[in-house]
Amino acid sequence: MGISEKLGLSKGQRYVFFGGKGGVGKTTCAAATAVWLSEEEGKEVLVVSTDPAHSLSDIFDQNIGSEPTPIEGVEGLKAIEIDPEKAAEEYVEVMKRVYEMSKDKGMEDLFGGEDLLKEQEELLKSSPGIDEAAAFQKFMELMKDDSYDVIVFDTAPTGHTLRFLSVPETLERQVKTMIKVRRTLRQVSKMLKTLIPFADSDEDEEDEILENLEKMKKEIEEIRETLSDASLTAFRLVMTPEEMAIYEARRALRTLNHYEIPVDMVIVNKVMPKRADECEFCRTRRKMEEKRLKLVEKYFGDKEIHQIPMFAEEVRGLGKIRQVAEILYGEPA
Ligand SMILES: Nc1ncnc2c1ncn2[C@@H]1O[C@H](COP(=O)(O)OP(=O)(O)OP(=O)(O)O)[C@@H](O)[C@H]1O
Ligand SMILES: [Mg+2]
Ligand SMILES: [Zn+2]
Repeated sequence: MGISEKLGLSKGQRYVFFGGKGGVGKTTCAAATAVWLSEEEGKEVLVVSTDPAHSLSDIFDQNIGSEPTPIEGVEGLKAIEIDPEKAAEEYVEVMKRVYEMSKDKGMEDLFGGEDLLKEQEELLKSSPGIDEAAAFQKFMELMKDDSYDVIVFDTAPTGHTLRFLSVPETLERQVKTMIKVRRTLRQVSKMLKTLIPFADSDEDEEDEILENLEKMKKEIEEIRETLSDASLTAFRLVMTPEEMAIYEARRALRTLNHYEIPVDMVIVNKVMPKRADECEFCRTRRKMEEKRLKLVEKYFGDKEIHQIPMFAEEVRGLGKIRQVAEILYGEPA
């Protein structure tokens, strides 16, 4: 069964995330998956990276910009490298506007409004890392753009990705508080109007602000639903056959379970191939890896587990990417 079938791709846009410890092969697997989906399954694919190290440009050996860039030689595949700093600036602007929206001309001093605004400010301050929030903002934008069948996310090392996935929870809390603020202010404004007939308050404007906040809340809820829907979203954990990488993946799995984000595949990359003429060093190394693979089986036994052998050279360029894709998704030999 193809990845697109498994994800029920006939139905609309789908999302595939790759996460794992630094250097285990997230970018490699994301690129291979994106190429496979476009070449073998005929999908319109966008592969996204928020890594400042321009790793997609490196692996595809071409310049990839902050706008979707067609990948030379692969029909139906585009890539985008989001500059985290630029995205963070955009995000701050958006949040400032949302914040202003929820404020009122002098009204916050009245009847507890100030306390609520303080609470709101605190929530803004306790936001997750600005980079993750910015990446999330981009994610929301991409979700609204339905020109792709699949969006593949090449993510930063696990910790960052998971914080990124917690953004909707935090945002939802913020927006809920803002809605509370608006409601209180509206009551105050109505009261003032009854007491002083000429008091300055514009109810239509008030309603519009509340409406916008409610809309935002709904959007965030939709994203949370999408991310936790196994027919729309797949998170794949990448690791090497080493304890540290396996433990990090295990921690990640727990966090993903907490956010109810479905993990459908575990990839063990850079596994030593078995050879007839192996030397003592390789034999010892492979024995150790076999133990680690048993550990992977123990912790992730209920997932689909794939192995990618260690290549003599790094994975760069379409030829190598296709080789990895064939190993991951091709018919078993
Ligand atoms: N199976 C493999 N055999 C040999 N080299 C590999 C293999 N998989 C990946 N590599 C190489 O390992 C390095 C790290 O891979 P990659 O960039 O995909 O990891 P990453 O998890 O995205 O790293 P980062 O956390 O820095 O983003 C790259 O140089 C890549 O070419
Ligand atoms: Mg990478
Ligand atoms: Zn050897």
